[in-house]
Amino acid sequence: MAGDFIITLLDVDRHDRSAFDCGETELNRYLQMTARQHLQKGIANTYVLVRREEPSKILGYFTLSFLQVDLTELPAQYRNKLPKTSLPAAKLGRLAIDRKCQGNNYGRLLLVDAMRRVAGTIRNAAGVIGLFVDAKNPHVAAFYRKFGFIPLEENPLFLMLPQQTILAAFPERKAAHNSST
Ligand SMILES: CC(C)(COP(=O)(O)OP(=O)(O)OC[C@H]1O[C@@H](n2cnc3c(N)ncnc32)[C@H](O)[C@@H]1OP(=O)(O)O)[C@@H](O)C(=O)NCCC(=O)NCCS
Repeated sequence: MAGDFIITLLDVDRHDRSAFDCGETELNRYLQMTARQHLQKGIANTYVLVRREEPSKILGYFTLSFLQVDLTELPAQYRNKLPKTSLPAAKLGRLAIDRKCQGNNYGRLLLVDAMRRVAGTIRNAAGVIGLFVDAKNPHVAAFYRKFGFIPLEENPLFLMLPQQTILAAFPERKAAHNSST
């Protein structure tokens, strides 16, 4: 399946945003009206899912950015050993699949891709304590829980995928042993 698809940064010259409809007006409008500005301003990246054979048609998208969370918001088991300050985190701002394609594991494909990007960020660029998402409703929260997201005590629609879960899902590849000197 993965070989038939491309997940890439939104490029408004190549990707047709107008036909996208996930059934949620706010998420459609974000893609159509705001995503490009946020990308240009460097405050949120939008990644789109397209088929290799039809690369202009957007099947789904997600956004990634950073946020700060307060230590007190975290589940108790993650509070220990962390500094008692605001902590850096990654944010899955939006995730949406076109209505005609829902239920085909495309949401899973995008979520796993977002996790892989965050694992790369932690290892190669900047530390974050996890990936956070604001679920729109309890049904969507159930979707995220399937992947290991943990609801926060104060607000069960705000969920965290801990750094440890993300890194365990994408173990670092061992460098090939080089015997020459
Ligand atoms: C929620 C959404 C992203 C899921 O994407 P999808 O492609 O339909 O989901 P997938 O086919 O990848 O499903 C993966 C798994 O999650 C489950 N799942 C999908 N939607 C779910 C939901 N709303 N509630 C609970 N579980 C859900 C599937 O049953 C599947 O589980 P399985 O492997 O055990 O069968 C998509 O339905 C969507 O875009 N909805 C409208 C926009 C929206 O609400 N976005 C979330 C914003 S917070």
